[in-house]
Amino acid sequence: MGRVLLPVLASALLLADPAQAADAPLNGPPGASSCTGCHATTRIADSVIPRIAGRKAADIVTFMREYKSDAWPSSVMGRIAKGLDDQQTDAIAAWFAAQPE
Ligand code: HEC
Repeated sequence: MGRVLLPVLASALLLADPAQAADAPLNGPPGASSCTGCHATTRIADSVIPRIAGRKAADIVTFMREYKSDAWPSSVMGRIAKGLDDQQTDAIAAWFAAQPE
């Protein structure tokens, strides 16, 4: 039984992978991959860059709006936020919010 079942399971797993990648691209919506270079989606100990994965989308959007209007001082985020329109920001925020904390 085990000899028959294992290869079946293995091929099921192999088949599942590309389908999953198509449904939820690992790099997120356009622009999101430019964030993950600094804001890791996996936990990194002692990073000076605040984690945004798993935060509320509305909070991320608020941060981005404030950075964009220079309401809050920032080193890099002001420049980055200015390069995104509201739609892109919303999509990226929603994607980060859906990532595991
Ligand atoms: C070059 C590195 C870098 C990139 C790229 C980058 N960030 Fe940041 N981010 C930072 C740093 C550093 C801070 C802290 C504020 C500052 O100094 O600008 C920050 C702060 C933030 C904060 C506030 C978090 C908090 O709790 O204070 C949010 C939200 C954020 N970034 C979202 C994004 C998004 C969305 C993107 C992609 C569009 C992005 N960042 C790209 C470095 C980066």
